[in-house]
Amino acid sequence: MALSGTAASSDGWSSKSAFVLAAIGAAVGLGNIWRFPTLAGENGGGAFVLVYVLCVLLIGLPMLLTEILIGRAGGGHADAVGSVGDVAEKSRRSRAWSFFGGVEVLAAFLILSFYSVVAGWVLNYVLLTGGDFLSSLFAGAPLAGSFAGQSQEEVTGLMGALFESPGRMIALHAAFMAVTLGIVMVGVHDGIEKAAKWLMPAFFVLLVVITIYGAFEGAFAQAVAFLFTPDFSKLSPSVMNEALGQAFFSLSLGSAAIITYGSYVPKNVRLAPTAATIAAADTAVAILAGLMIFPIVFSAGLDPAAGPSLIFQSLPVAFQGMPGGAFMALAFFILIFFAALTSSISLLEGPTAFVIDRLRLARPVAAVLVAVLAFLIGCACALGYSTWSDVRLLSFWGIFENADILDSIDGITGRLMLPLAGLGLAIFIGWRADRRLVEVESGLSGGMFMLWRGLVAWLAPVAVFLILLFGLFPSLL
Ligand code: PFF
Repeated sequence: MALSGTAASSDGWSSKSAFVLAAIGAAVGLGNIWRFPTLAGENGGGAFVLVYVLCVLLIGLPMLLTEILIGRAGGGHADAVGSVGDVAEKSRRSRAWSFFGGVEVLAAFLILSFYSVVAGWVLNYVLLTGGDFLSSLFAGAPLAGSFAGQSQEEVTGLMGALFESPGRMIALHAAFMAVTLGIVMVGVHDGIEKAAKWLMPAFFVLLVVITIYGAFEGAFAQAVAFLFTPDFSKLSPSVMNEALGQAFFSLSLGSAAIITYGSYVPKNVRLAPTAATIAAADTAVAILAGLMIFPIVFSAGLDPAAGPSLIFQSLPVAFQGMPGGAFMALAFFILIFFAALTSSISLLEGPTAFVIDRLRLARPVAAVLVAVLAFLIGCACALGYSTWSDVRLLSFWGIFENADILDSIDGITGRLMLPLAGLGLAIFIGWRADRRLVEVESGLSGGMFMLWRGLVAWLAPVAVFLILLFGLFPSLL
C-alpha cells in the first residue's frame, strides 16, 4: 500500500485555483517564449504551428489529464515513480510500469540543468536592459529606444560577449538556480503556490502590454501571415517530431512536474476541465508570444529563423528603434524571467519529491541535492559555449550531429525522453490500468470518457510511436 508520502501528505495546494495557477506557471515558460518562436521560425512558421496545435489538442491535452490523474490517484506519493507504481498496484499490475515515472524524473532533472542556463541568459538581459533603462532615465529620456547610441553590431554582440565569458554565464546560472531552490525548499503551499500567485498575474499583464505595443509598433500583419499560413512543403517527420516534443515540453508533460503537482490536488477537484484550462492557457501564451515577438522581428527586418539567439539578439536590436524601447526591453526580459522561474520551480519539484519519497530525506536536503547536481550539469552546458564548444555528445547520431552540449541535452529530452514517457503512460492508462479507477478519477463519463480514453489508448501511442520512429531515424523512410 501507499507509504506515507512525506512530500504529499504534509503539504499541498490550498485550493483548486492555486493548483491551476501553479500548473499554468509550470507550463508557461521559456518553452513558450524562447523555444516555441525559435522552432516556429526555424521550421517555416504556419505549418509548424498547425502541427503543434494538433499535437496539443489530440495528444497533449489527453496526456495532461492522464498525468494529473496518475498523480492524484497515486496514493500518498508525490513522486512520479511512486505514483505510477501505486496506480499499477491498485490495478493489480506490475509496479514495473513505474519505469516510465523514472524516465520522467530523469528528464526533469536534465531539463532543469540547461533550463537554468538559458534562464541565466535571461537574467543577463534583465540586468543589461535594466541598466540601460536607468541610464536613459537619468539622461532625461525615459522614452528612448533601447541601447541608444550603440550600433546594431554592438547590441547583437552582447550575446557573444556573454558566451565568451563562462564565469559570468555560470554565475547567472547559479543565481537563477539558487532562487528556484529557495522557493522549492520552503514547500508546496508557502513556496511554490505563493510564487505562482504573485508571478503569474504580473506575467500576464506584461504579456498583454507588450503584445499591444508590438501590434502598434511592429509588422503585425506580416507576423500573422507567418504564423498562420501553413506551407505544407515544410512538413517532414523531423518537423513533426519537433512539434510533438515541443507540445510535451510546453505542457510540462513527460517530466514529473504534472504528476507531482497532480498529487497535491484535493480529491474534490474535477480534473478534466482543469486540464483543459491549463492546456488552453499554455497554447494561448505560446501563440501570443509569437504575436509579440515576430512583429518586432519583421519590422526590424530581422531573420525569423535566427535560432536560439532569436529573442536575445534580435529583440534588443528591434527595441532600439522604437519609442519607449528601453522600458519595453526591460519589461520583456522581466516577463520571461518570471515565466522561467515558475517553470524551473516545477522542474526542481519533481525530482525533489522523488528524493524525498525514495531516500526519505527532508525537503530542504533533497532540494539542495537535486539543485546542486543539476547545477553541475548546467555548468557543462554553459561551458559548451566556450571552452567545450567542440564537444558533441551525440555525434554518432545523424540528427544530433552538430548539437553542442546544451542542444544535445535539450534534443534528447525533448525529442526522445518526454514523448517516450508519454508513450509508456498512454499504454499504461489506456490498456493496463483499472478502468473503474481511471473513470472515477477522470471525472468524465459517457461519450467524453470514451473520446478521451480512445485518444489515450489509440491515437497517442500510435502517433507518438510513428513520430518518434521516423523523426529520430529519418533514414528508415
Ligand atoms: N513547460 C515549461 C516551458 O514551456 O518552459 C518547461 C518545463 C517545465 C518542462 C516543467 C518540463 C517540466 F516538467
